Amino acid sequence: MPSTITAVSFKSSLLSRRATLWLAAIAVAVSVVNCASLPPPRTPIEALYRKRCGNCHELAEPGAYSGNDWKRIMVQMSGNAGLSDAQAAELLGWLMKNSGSKTP
Ligand code: HEC
Repeated sequence: MPSTITAVSFKSSLLSRRATLWLAAIAVAVSVVNCASLPPPRTPIEALYRKRCGNCHELAEPGAYSGNDWKRIMVQMSGNAGLSDAQAAELLGWLMKNSGSKTP
């Protein structure tokens, strides 16, 4: 008789461990989805920006820098991101258009 009880409680502890693993897996999956919760890019240039400029550091908000800052930054970062001249020019235009307006 005692051996039956042990078997049952062993089985239920196995089940609850499996349930815990599942909960952990679901929690991880949910947090991964949350991390990628940026709205979909609206333009190809925005997609390029997200794909090429967020690998080494967090993506900067275009509005966090002035147009002149972006000119200076892009001299260095277009090389970092391996952009072609055309891509760099287009991206700089987009960043300047969306740049912060407080400083020139
Ligand atoms: C190969 C890695 C790498 C890639 C790719 C990269 N960066 Fe950077 N970025 C850095 C490093 C390292 C720094 C900090 C060093 C520095 O300021 O010189 C930095 C700094 C910055 C800063 C802060 C500059 C400041 O003066 O405050 C901005 C904004 C930025 N990057 C934007 C971009 C943009 C836009 C792109 C895409 C075109 C890009 N980064 C791609 C490595 C990278």
